[in-house]
Amino acid sequence: MGELNFAAADRYDSGMKYRRCGDSGVLLPELSLGLWHNFGSVDRYDNMKAIARYAFDHGITCFDLADNYGPVPGSAEENFGRLMRDSFAPHRDELFVSTKAGHDMWRGPYGSWNSRKHLMAGLDQSLKRMGLDYVDVFYSHRYDPETPIEETLQALVDIVRSGKALYVGLSKYPKHQAMFAYDYLARRDVRCLVYQGRYNMLNTAVEDDGIIDDAAAAGVGFAAFSPLAQGMLTDKYLNGIPADSRVARGGFLKKEQLAPEIIEVVAELNRIALDRGESLADMALAWLLADRNVTSVIMGASSVEQLGDNLQCLYSAPFSDEEIARIEGVLKRLKTSDAL
Ligand SMILES: NC(=O)c1ccc[n+]([C@@H]2O[C@H](COP(=O)([O-])OP(=O)(O)OC[C@H]3O[C@@H](n4cnc5c(N)ncnc54)[C@H](OP(=O)(O)O)[C@@H]3O)[C@@H](O)[C@H]2O)c1
Repeated sequence: MGELNFAAADRYDSGMKYRRCGDSGVLLPELSLGLWHNFGSVDRYDNMKAIARYAFDHGITCFDLADNYGPVPGSAEENFGRLMRDSFAPHRDELFVSTKAGHDMWRGPYGSWNSRKHLMAGLDQSLKRMGLDYVDVFYSHRYDPETPIEETLQALVDIVRSGKALYVGLSKYPKHQAMFAYDYLARRDVRCLVYQGRYNMLNTAVEDDGIIDDAAAAGVGFAAFSPLAQGMLTDKYLNGIPADSRVARGGFLKKEQLAPEIIEVVAELNRIALDRGESLADMALAWLLADRNVTSVIMGASSVEQLGDNLQCLYSAPFSDEEIARIEGVLKRLKTSDAL
């Protein structure tokens, strides 16, 4: 315990920039830290504490959680609760904490999806695990085709009115349902703060489908998750599968996803990054941040060293026309391949 005054005095002068989240009053850091992996009961507490503190010391104010993060589900929130107690308690008002509900959490008919029953109970459980009175953003984690969308959205409105979340967001909603939700929420004076979607150089569906543009047009921010394609957009898998990787540890990224066509593309992107004088991870993050409609990029890290590397993207040079053409040429090959 103790050490409650660890925080670096220069944490807001270390290069982090903040972007306005849609038309809201809130600024989010260009890089946020995601706790999906590396913060579960299977992970080392001293490592996660070092990562979280390093992030905060470098201006990362936004920590992204969900009820099911772990493994085991719930344990990332429990560990975050411990971090709050032994590190961040004096800094609660400097933090922007998000959680989500909608994926499988407990047994029986109310343990998943988007009923009012599940969302209300899920958020109460999350607050208890984290030891918080409220979260800054509560997300509907996924669209539920069986529950009337109005029931879900009204639950989000009531959650904000109850004070248990300051803002609400949507994650992975299909295009039309997202637009319906922006309108429904705005009419009830509970604007959707942010849409969270998978977005990286290898997966640009949210851009291709117009989801990022729709969010911008509605005054909603956009948070990009899995910006490094879970580690594929780094140099780590170029020569096989390292023992200390998400794939080897049995995380969400599977060996089958490392198809030879993709590794070839990644190797070419790595060459471009080296020509630019940076790591592939930094180039991949900088590529997303070049889109001004992206409010924040939510990355993961399994070590302080990775986080330190990733923060260098804040100093990446703008992409020249020649570099853009080279990168797009490489990515076009991927889009016409069957590998993804
Ligand atoms: N809304 C949703 O449904 C949803 C879904 C997924 C994620 N998310 C959010 O997005 C966050 C980020 O997702 P993600 O973890 O998939 O993000 P990511 O940034 O694409 O991948 C992170 C992983 O890449 C590897 N890595 C990171 N930096 C590296 C570096 N510099 N060099 C080498 N390897 C590096 C590490 O894996 P190793 O373990 O291999 O070292 C790390 O855990 C999540 O924590 C969560 O908050 C949301």
